[in-house]
Amino acid sequence: MRQSDPLARYFMQTHSNEAAWQPVQGEGAAVGKIILFGEHAVVYGKPALAVPVGAVTARATIRPAQGEWIHAQNFSRRYALAQAIERDPLAQALRVTSAYCGQPLRNLELTVSSTIPVAGGLGSGAAVATATVRALADYHGVALTPETVAALTFESEKLLHGTPSGIDNTVIAYERPIVFVKGEPPVPLRVAQPFTLVIADTGVPSPTRVTVGDVAAARAREPERFDALFAEVEALVLAARAIIAGSDPASLGPLMEANQRLLEALGVSAEINERLCVVARQTGALGAKLSGGGRGGNVIALVTPEAAARVAEALAAAGAKRTIITEIGAQAAGPFG
Ligand code: PMV
Repeated sequence: MRQSDPLARYFMQTHSNEAAWQPVQGEGAAVGKIILFGEHAVVYGKPALAVPVGAVTARATIRPAQGEWIHAQNFSRRYALAQAIERDPLAQALRVTSAYCGQPLRNLELTVSSTIPVAGGLGSGAAVATATVRALADYHGVALTPETVAALTFESEKLLHGTPSGIDNTVIAYERPIVFVKGEPPVPLRVAQPFTLVIADTGVPSPTRVTVGDVAAARAREPERFDALFAEVEALVLAARAIIAGSDPASLGPLMEANQRLLEALGVSAEINERLCVVARQTGALGAKLSGGGRGGNVIALVTPEAAARVAEALAAAGAKRTIITEIGAQAAGPFG
């Protein structure tokens, strides 16, 4: 039976004579994500398509401690919660989750680690926060729905990104392909035929907050032009959704090209994104585009399974720091379960 107060459990276990002593800890994990279509326009209320990427993960553990600590292993950084800056997304994830669980935030240490490149468009910030939320809830013996995980993690996303649409924390919390519209519950994205993507990390970190801020400033100067571009993105997203739910995912290629041109027009592409997209196409990809905030970050290329390794190698030779070949698996349109 689960004793819900972790400190009481810890006390009981450390003072009991049970042979099989189990350390009391809470654990949480979360996958990465990519946006297939619709980034940036999604901030302005347009739909976007996103899928989880299980090849990269974030992990979090909560253990009892003297005082309150955050240990970010990737940065070799251990600091007291009280010393965390106000905008610290991990501290925020701890605060909102402890409040949700109705438990004090006392005498515990959070340890996080991640294989997701930081500021690379794979959702590293949202995944680390999601793992933290899940670990602390687990520590307190509280089960969370994906909806609650997404809502709690959104509080960290706001500190990290300023005006996030909520797509990252939502697709990561649900771990399913989604159609996302800001402020609305996600809709499952039906994937009729699996398709293969090569994800190429440009190695150029690009904080989403910066590109999102630049798009906002540019739109303030030219509202009609930007709203027209967002409307074009929306049309592509709807067309892509229909193709993904149909039988010929190869025809997504031209839509990716068109979305990339619109992202360039929004001012969020960069030479490295363009170069990797060209290399992907030249080596057999059916289409390629940047994914996420842009100006670096990630490029995704649609490939046949046979061409995947060749395209990945060419992208690495052209400067990608890391490539991931991932299959977007068939998914029913059924409700989230
Ligand atoms: O976190 P990233 O870099 O994958 O970007 C998220 C997508 C944006 O549309 C650029 C921002 C947002 O909040 O939706």
